[in-house]
Amino acid sequence: MSKSILIAGGHGQVGSEFAALSTDQLRCVNLGSSELDICDESSLQSALDTHRPDALINAAAYTAVDKAETDSDAAYALNSDGAKQLALACSARNIPLLHISTDYVFNGKKNGAYLEDDPTDPQGVYGASKLAGEHAIQHCCSKHIILRVSWVFGQYGNNFVKTMLRLAAERDELGVVADQYGAPTSARCIARTLLMLAERCIERTEFPWGLYHLPSHPATNWHEFANEIFAQAKDIGLVQKIPIVNAITSSDYPTPAARPANSLMGSAKAIAEISACNWQEELTEVLLALKDQAR
Ligand SMILES: NC(=O)c1ccc[n+]([C@@H]2O[C@H](COP(=O)([O-])OP(=O)(O)OC[C@H]3O[C@@H](n4cnc5c(N)ncnc54)[C@H](OP(=O)(O)O)[C@@H]3O)[C@@H](O)[C@H]2O)c1
Repeated sequence: MSKSILIAGGHGQVGSEFAALSTDQLRCVNLGSSELDICDESSLQSALDTHRPDALINAAAYTAVDKAETDSDAAYALNSDGAKQLALACSARNIPLLHISTDYVFNGKKNGAYLEDDPTDPQGVYGASKLAGEHAIQHCCSKHIILRVSWVFGQYGNNFVKTMLRLAAERDELGVVADQYGAPTSARCIARTLLMLAERCIERTEFPWGLYHLPSHPATNWHEFANEIFAQAKDIGLVQKIPIVNAITSSDYPTPAARPANSLMGSAKAIAEISACNWQEELTEVLLALKDQAR
């Protein structure tokens, strides 16, 4: 029988990916904030009454990391209170809630990949508000999956890949931070993983609910990522020239919110639906999609 999944934040970078993955058997209903405002109880109940989903995926979030430092009420309202509302509503209707969280819950000082049980220590408002959202979900909805991801890129929304492509057209030379390590994760890989998890948790009463990391490989830094973007973009004819990319340090590029020096995500939990993404292959797919869009 056909199942349906409601996607909150369905028009964001990750949320938009679900439309292409929707099938007759597992139908994704993408709603933007004007159709489903997760901070508004009546909007939430009305969307759940209308669509009666078998599971809900939360791709909505306050993601302006630097702005959050001076706009903490808004960040907490969405990332913590909004997540809690979703958790209470899903619990009341006995449907699973799948939620996306972030590497920013960690301080970045670990030597090696972060595992699910590592102590959290967010360095800024965004990370703290996302951590508060995780706690609210864990407390309010037993049927939950929280998937922590890092350095998201994709064909929709704003991200590092699109910024680099724009800068390649504008500049001959730029500096990119080389002392923050991690791995980019494609929005498509996140959406695909969440859908596989949703399918399994809808079908089975016994499910290993809880917190998971989505690893991506190979490990890199932003400077190397930029070089790979430019090399691939030049190969497929998306950019005409490659700018000189100078390696700089985080202190050369101060931002209001501190970034973790190490964002690498590993997983200590074996579950069939979660396998590491390969960002280099996914980058090719994203660049080809952007080339198509530019035609
Ligand atoms: N971007 C990254 O690098 C990164 C890294 C790690 C983890 N994450 C996590 O990944 C998830 C998805 O991030 P993303 O990059 O896809 O974010 P995004 O592109 O900024 O999308 C977030 C979406 O949230 C929606 N939204 C805002 N207020 C809302 C409300 N009150 N009710 C419902 N929806 C609301 C926005 O919709 P409207 O535009 O319709 O207002 C927007 O489309 C988030 O949980 C984020 O914390 C992201």
